[in-house]
Amino acid sequence: MTMAKTLIAFYSRRGQNYVDGSIRNLPRGNNEVIVEKIQALLPEADVFRIDTVKQYSEDYMVCIEEAKQELRAKARPELTAKVENMAQYDTIILGYPNWWGVPPMAVFTFLEIYDFAGKKIVPFCSHEGSGLGGSIRQIKMAVPEARLTEGVAIHGAAASHCDREVNLILAQARLFPA
Ligand SMILES: Cc1cc2nc3c(=O)[nH]c(=O)nc-3n(C[C@H](O)[C@H](O)[C@H](O)COP(=O)(O)O)c2cc1C
Repeated sequence: MTMAKTLIAFYSRRGQNYVDGSIRNLPRGNNEVIVEKIQALLPEADVFRIDTVKQYSEDYMVCIEEAKQELRAKARPELTAKVENMAQYDTIILGYPNWWGVPPMAVFTFLEIYDFAGKKIVPFCSHEGSGLGGSIRQIKMAVPEARLTEGVAIHGAAASHCDREVNLILAQARLFPA
């Protein structure tokens, strides 16, 4: 019997972002930082970065407009890479920022490429005040045949000290009945 594996898939954007009420430049995105923490506790998991061929502006004000346009258009931006063998994973830890209340459109491109039937998805969302927003409902609609655990919201500005939330994510990944 083969051991089912866990994949950590995440979207994260480097550049200017809104942090605790002001614009700051983030050399590493918040989800990038969070994923490193998860990886340290779950070294057996594989990691996949969801990224778009066309990059968003590093300028926050420009980026929020680009993201708004894509949301309105229900865009499915092209991704830079594919997961090698999705069939080997039974659990997907899925990290993304809250963009206008939902995950970036690239996350939906990702969710629509593969067959998630019967797989467990553990969503976590970094944000600056809106929490999970409508992200769980939207993910459910995109992959109705997957088994979603409760989502974990993480304040982006606290990404470097979110051990409690990281433990919640790990508990969901391990303990939610198979
Ligand atoms: C395009 C865009 C839209 C955003 N919209 C929201 C929002 O609606 N609500 C919110 O709480 N934070 C919003 N934010 C803030 C991000 O969710 C937050 O900074 C997140 O931690 C970024 O994660 P990342 O650095 O991994 O990309 C937005 C940020 C961007 C760039």
